Amino acid sequence: MGLNESAVLEALRAVKDPDLHKDIVTLGFVKNLTIDAGRVGFTIELTTPACPVKDQLREQARAVVAQLAGVVGVDVEMTSQVRTSAHGDAGRAAVPGVKNVIAVGAGKGGVGKTTVAVNLAIALAKRGGKVAMIDGDIYGPNVPIMLGLQTQLTTDGNKIVPAEKYGIQVVSMGFLTQDDAPVIWRGPMLHGVIQQFFREVRWAEVDYLVIDLPPGTGDVALSLAQTVPVSGAIVVTTPQTVSLADTRRAVRMYQKLNIPTLGLIENMSHFVCPSCQHESDIFGKGGGESLAESLAVPFLGRIPIYEPIRVGGDIGVPIVVNEPDSPAGRAFLSAAERTAAQVSIASFRKPIPLTPVN
Ligand SMILES: Nc1ncnc2c1ncn2[C@@H]1O[C@H](COP(=O)(O)OP(=O)(O)O)[C@@H](O)[C@H]1O
Ligand SMILES: [Mg+2]
Repeated sequence: MGLNESAVLEALRAVKDPDLHKDIVTLGFVKNLTIDAGRVGFTIELTTPACPVKDQLREQARAVVAQLAGVVGVDVEMTSQVRTSAHGDAGRAAVPGVKNVIAVGAGKGGVGKTTVAVNLAIALAKRGGKVAMIDGDIYGPNVPIMLGLQTQLTTDGNKIVPAEKYGIQVVSMGFLTQDDAPVIWRGPMLHGVIQQFFREVRWAEVDYLVIDLPPGTGDVALSLAQTVPVSGAIVVTTPQTVSLADTRRAVRMYQKLNIPTLGLIENMSHFVCPSCQHESDIFGKGGGESLAESLAVPFLGRIPIYEPIRVGGDIGVPIVVNEPDSPAGRAFLSAAERTAAQVSIASFRKPIPLTPVN
């Protein structure tokens, strides 16, 4: 067989996406294939810029094509195009400009939900995603403090313009002064605010919109589920409260609301010494993994207890900005990659028919 397009594609079928369990040709990832006097060029378009195995896929693709007779060189370009995993319906139209809505929740307050949401959002942006954030804590917004962002939202005459910090777009009740509130926000408070955060903000080209859910009864989760199609929820736990019951309750609640659980993050899972970076498993190891396993949801990562995470939150410089190469910073970046991979997996699933929420 001479060197032609189908020979190259046939060879590339040997390269499998480890998350999607299919080859990159079947998945439609191979683009712009050119063959010029034995030089083969193509683009692999992944579904996430934060792909943990990007380099591995590139190398595999290069290797299988290089083996073909007549090939003198291989040029592989890696790009990404985030797919949407949230399909709207009549009651819950997708938000224009937003591909994936990711909710960050927990069975309990105080487990580090906001800390995780903020660092994950920035980590996704650092990996090349276009990221936005909604502070779902209407009555006690913490996101502005953790981002070190004191500002007021403005409108472009038509829509609300989100604030920006660390490469992410963000809206929060904390950006509304008491005086502004009645002007911009009309209608019943909580549900109205959530709807307006989605519908009346000028969101532009957002791959991942992270919403920090407040602790409590699930009012905001309910509003969210009634307002937009949600790609999935990340559930944050801690080893001290790795109470199966709490986390299971949260997962069940999202299930009822038709929000799949993208995975579990174990926060404050082990201790990292701020001065010597020594890591110790003071709570034992593997609690998060086994909890995830027993709930049949993916495990997205373990974040250490690390004083600079707390300090970073207090001074508005999140750890992924301040110490991206520390064990804690790397833990968030890797959790972000796994989150992006789960969103990508979800985008290939058949949409669950949305049933009305009562
Ligand atoms: N991994 C961590 N290491 C150290 N402190 C943390 C960590 N995660 C959260 N914190 C701190 O714990 C407190 C509660 O976190 P927060 O994100 O506000 O929780 P929640 O949103 O669940 O109520 C904050 O002071 C925060 O800085
Ligand atoms: Mg919070």
